Amino acid sequence: MKIFADTAEVQEIQVLQDLGIIDGVTTNPSLIAKSGRDIREVLVEICSICPGDISGETVSTEAEGMVREGRWLREIADNMVVKVPLTPAGIRACKTLSQDRHPVNVTLCFSANQALLAAKAGARYISPFVGRLDDLGQDGMELIADIREIYDNYGFDTQILTASVRGPQHVLAAAKIGSDVFTAPPKVIFQLFNHPLTDKGLKAFLDDWAKTGQTLGRTDSKRR
Ligand code: G3P
Repeated sequence: MKIFADTAEVQEIQVLQDLGIIDGVTTNPSLIAKSGRDIREVLVEICSICPGDISGETVSTEAEGMVREGRWLREIADNMVVKVPLTPAGIRACKTLSQDRHPVNVTLCFSANQALLAAKAGARYISPFVGRLDDLGQDGMELIADIREIYDNYGFDTQILTASVRGPQHVLAAAKIGSDVFTAPPKVIFQLFNHPLTDKGLKAFLDDWAKTGQTLGRTDSKRR
């Protein structure tokens, strides 16, 4: 399962990249706005930090505008992926860009039928927003399972990119269903490390080791 960082904060991306646990990054207009930075500048930096797929989102509401913006985004770096919304214009732009061999991430997906349309249009990724469905009292993970079933039924190679992930429980559920990717804020990705028994166990190991008086890494393994 691939892990994408859902952020436009370059320092956070660098930390995750150094840990070797991320395969890409997703951004959207809200995240770029939050960074307070120029979109081109920030995407250039992100693309150079992380060699995986980096999604940058179009803001036009017309297909032609999305295609134009998509081509502009693709000139930033080879690993840019064009993100378009799941509207008729977005699906049309996805088809055009995909035919021109530009990878597309179709975002703002809230139903399995929408995901079917994105796959038909040749999207590399479909981004269903599980957290926002949960916010409405629906079950976001049911959507991931439905899309998985439909894509497998017909052999679509569009990758399911579970988005709007709010915590480790979403990651676990998405992984069990077989989502290809999840994208989450760095805070959530760091939460995946946590278990109290890991901290407790490590403390016990180090306390016991200290009692031996030995130094690891010395060839003679002598006590101090
Ligand atoms: O990248 C889009 C998506 O992950 C947004 O998540 O938390 O704003 O619903 P959220």
